[in-house]
Amino acid sequence: MPQIVPKTMGQQFGRRSWAEPWKIKMVEPIHMTTREERERAMAEAGYNTFLLRSQDVYIDLLTDSGTSAMSDRQWSGLMLGDEAYAGSRNFYHMVEAIQEHYGYKYVVPTHQGRGAEHLISQAVIQPGQIVPGNMYFTTTRLHQELAGGKFVDVIIPEAHDPTDLHPFKGNVDLAKLESLIQEVGADKVAYISLAGTVNMAGGQPVSMANVKALKALCDRYGIPVYLDATRMMENAFFIQEREEGYQDKPIAAILKEFCSYTDGAWMSAKKDNLVNIGGWLAVNDQQLFDRLRNMVVVYEGLHTYGGMAGRDMEALAIGIREAVQDDYVRARVGQVRYLGELLMDWDVPIVQPVGGHAIFLDAKRFYPHLPQDLFPAQTLAAELYLDSGVRGMERGIVSAGRDPETGQHRYPALELTRLAIPRRVYTQAHMDVVAESVKAVYDNREQVRGLRMVYEPEYLRFFQARFEPITE
Ligand code: F0G
Repeated sequence: MPQIVPKTMGQQFGRRSWAEPWKIKMVEPIHMTTREERERAMAEAGYNTFLLRSQDVYIDLLTDSGTSAMSDRQWSGLMLGDEAYAGSRNFYHMVEAIQEHYGYKYVVPTHQGRGAEHLISQAVIQPGQIVPGNMYFTTTRLHQELAGGKFVDVIIPEAHDPTDLHPFKGNVDLAKLESLIQEVGADKVAYISLAGTVNMAGGQPVSMANVKALKALCDRYGIPVYLDATRMMENAFFIQEREEGYQDKPIAAILKEFCSYTDGAWMSAKKDNLVNIGGWLAVNDQQLFDRLRNMVVVYEGLHTYGGMAGRDMEALAIGIREAVQDDYVRARVGQVRYLGELLMDWDVPIVQPVGGHAIFLDAKRFYPHLPQDLFPAQTLAAELYLDSGVRGMERGIVSAGRDPETGQHRYPALELTRLAIPRRVYTQAHMDVVAESVKAVYDNREQVRGLRMVYEPEYLRFFQARFEPITE
């Protein structure tokens, strides 16, 4: 694979600069707090940014999930909500948009991504089976484990190195996958759990060549490939930017081709379907669909709303059509890259190449004096909030949780603090403020001692764990 040098969006597209293909019609005031107020808020939140109140946050980069700004078209769509219990017209609009742009035959609505993960895991995994995938995601893996499966990471090794410039660090290591299948036997593999814009790897893409070869390999063994379609728009952008033969193809065509190499998908529509709540599950196999459609009424809601209001499904249908526009995706990834370039100019250690939805600060290189047991990435998220009220989140040892068999911490190679950029929400000036704050925290790095965990919940501990600063 060729090594890439990230280019500015201007160079890439032969223009002087890029700008967002929208203007602002309504604004939401935010305010800066004092250092003293932030110290109080952080202590009350147990040094966990998930436990802060959003009113105490200045620039909120906790997540790009459910935090997008909807368009005037989407807000108008809310007024067209058909709130019938069964057969809402908005459901059919949503199904049409999914069929047209993702290409799957059958759609099951869910309240958000993890609702869909629950259904697919319960429907497809037999206890004792393994689920290979291109790096774990927290909720995805937990649902696979709760269904009796075991997630096995088969991402390429470059993904675990934050400095490696491989252009498709989300790719599946096909040789590793094939030897795993041969070792355990194809009947022990429930499905391949493939994700685009791999979240925990730093928002890294999967190439078209890789998904195509993956599908061919799995077809030989009769193993289905299911896609976590969350953030596939950004993945499609990277294919257009970096993969031979895709430069002149629209994002929409790339997305649909990619999905054609998979047997179905689950989706957190709260990301690149540009809505504040919603999700879906889509498959091509009718028998599986019948089963999922039956399960959804038990766990989510009737099969024509799955936990969403009619108006939410209308906004989602419109959001899909807006999100496949090339100029939108270019500006979306361009803003993330803008922030990344500022930090790289100052030699702040981040995951490279810059990914599609967030900047990931490399806490291991940020705080080389802190062992992973002192939660460097959690510490960094807390320090950044204390400096400026910018909220990010930990994606390291806390997020990785404990091994269900041994009960010990899992020690992921990547110890990262994520600054996720909500879609269509912040300006370039906000990114400047964020970069300057990260720089200030970096300059102060030697003063920092780390955290100790004082409360740990059983599931997905990063959401609710509490910490105390180490002072000695
Ligand atoms: N898959 C991926 C890759 C995700 O990033 C998420 C959520 C989910 C599935 C679950 O979807 O939240 O709608 O239930 N990620 C959020 C984040 C929480 O901040 O990265 P959900």
